[in-house]
Amino acid sequence: MPTGPQVILILKIAVGLVTALLLASAVALAVKKPRLHGVLNSVLTLLTLVTVILFEVVIRFLGVDVKAHMNEEARFALRIHLCFVIPLTPILLWMLISGWKRRIRMHLAVSVLFLILWIGMFVTGMFYLPHYDQRPADNPVPQRNEPK
Ligand code: HEM
Repeated sequence: MPTGPQVILILKIAVGLVTALLLASAVALAVKKPRLHGVLNSVLTLLTLVTVILFEVVIRFLGVDVKAHMNEEARFALRIHLCFVIPLTPILLWMLISGWKRRIRMHLAVSVLFLILWIGMFVTGMFYLPHYDQRPADNPVPQRNEPK
C-alpha cells in the first residue's frame, strides 16, 4: 500500500510527463503538424483520465490518506489546487472533442481557459504540495479545531 507522500510524488511525475506531452503538442502545431498535435493530445487526455481514475481508487477504495502528512499551509494549497483541477477534466474533454470535430475557433477560445487551469494546476501541485512528511516525528501537526 503506498503512503500519502508516495502518492503525491507519483502524481508529480505523471503531471511532469503529461506536461512534456503538452509542450511537444505545441511544438507540433508550431511546425505545422496538426495531426501529430491531435495524436499527442489524445494520448495526453487518455493518460490524464487513467491517472484520475487510479487516484480515486487509491484514496477512496484503498483508503490512502494523502493529507495526513500535510501542514495547514499545504492543506490550504491543496484547496487552491483543487479549484484548478476539478474544472480541468471537463475542459480537457471539451478541447479533445472540439479538436476532433475541427471546431477550431471554439478550440482556440477554450484553449485560453485550458492553459490558465493547466498552469494553475501545475504550479500549485508541483511547488506547493509536499511529497514528504511535514510532521515532526514526535510531534504531529495540530489539526484544525484541535487544542495545540
Ligand atoms: C493548449 C492550447 C492549444 C492550442 C492553442 C491548440 C490549437 C489547435 C489548432 C490551431 C488546431 C488546428 C490545427 C490545424 O488543423 O491546422 C488544433 C487541432 C487539434 N487539437 Fe488543439 N490546441 C491546444 C490544445 C489541445 C488539447 C489540450 C487537446 C486535447 C485535449 C487538443 C486536441 C486537438 C485535436 C484532436 C486537434 C485536431 C488534430 C487533427 O487535425 O487531427 N488541442 N489545435
